[in-house]
Amino acid sequence: MKKLSILVFTAVFLVLWACVASAGPKLPDPQTSGGMGLFDAFKLRQSAPGGDFPKGELSAQELSNVLWAMSGLNRGETGWTVPMSKGLPPYVRVYAATKDGVFLYEWDTHSLEDISDKDIRADIGAQRFVADASCILILVPDTDALAEFDEATGLEFAAVAVGMMTQDAYLACAAMNLGARYIHSMRENAIASALSIAEGNRPICVFMLGK
Ligand SMILES: Cc1cc2nc3c(=O)[nH]c(=O)nc-3n(C[C@H](O)[C@H](O)[C@H](O)COP(=O)(O)O)c2cc1C
Repeated sequence: MKKLSILVFTAVFLVLWACVASAGPKLPDPQTSGGMGLFDAFKLRQSAPGGDFPKGELSAQELSNVLWAMSGLNRGETGWTVPMSKGLPPYVRVYAATKDGVFLYEWDTHSLEDISDKDIRADIGAQRFVADASCILILVPDTDALAEFDEATGLEFAAVAVGMMTQDAYLACAAMNLGARYIHSMRENAIASALSIAEGNRPICVFMLGK
């Protein structure tokens, strides 16, 4: 009986430890009201210059707001800040690469999952300045989530989603006075190997953040 209790205790401890160990940095609840007016943000939307990109780190609240704007839940359990074909759950994943490692944004819990503890920022962009961003978002289509479409349609829908998600990110950054830049020139193989993503799940773009 004593042995059984020890086994149960150990099993519970290991499960709890695994849960804590795989959780990334805590994200505060996103800001969902107030802030700059949308039309003021339209006037300010721009890409920060690559060669002189702001190197300051975003606060947890700022990162939370940007991620929520890109694919967070905004209505109940099946409504998101960006439209998805057939109302499917977001089929483009957002990874955040920072000096502390790489994290995957989980829209359903608005949290970050640990992917790697390596700083891969210098390996992401084909242009050297990309490494200057304190946070680099990497947008990757989820081919499993797009399985009901043929390959070309799935890629097209993923690209449309990326456009909507990054425009939301640009506007959120404008509203919070953060630096932002969409980047297509990336080192796809280095990214795929750092994220251990399956063949076919190639990133569509990366998005620099700083302040
Ligand atoms: C599809 C696309 C690809 C881009 N790729 C890169 C890139 O690889 N490197 C880069 O420095 N900027 C890139 N940009 C940023 C553009 O150069 C920038 O948006 C453009 O100069 C217009 O500036 P604005 O965003 O301030 O209006 C890209 C933008 C888009 C929309």
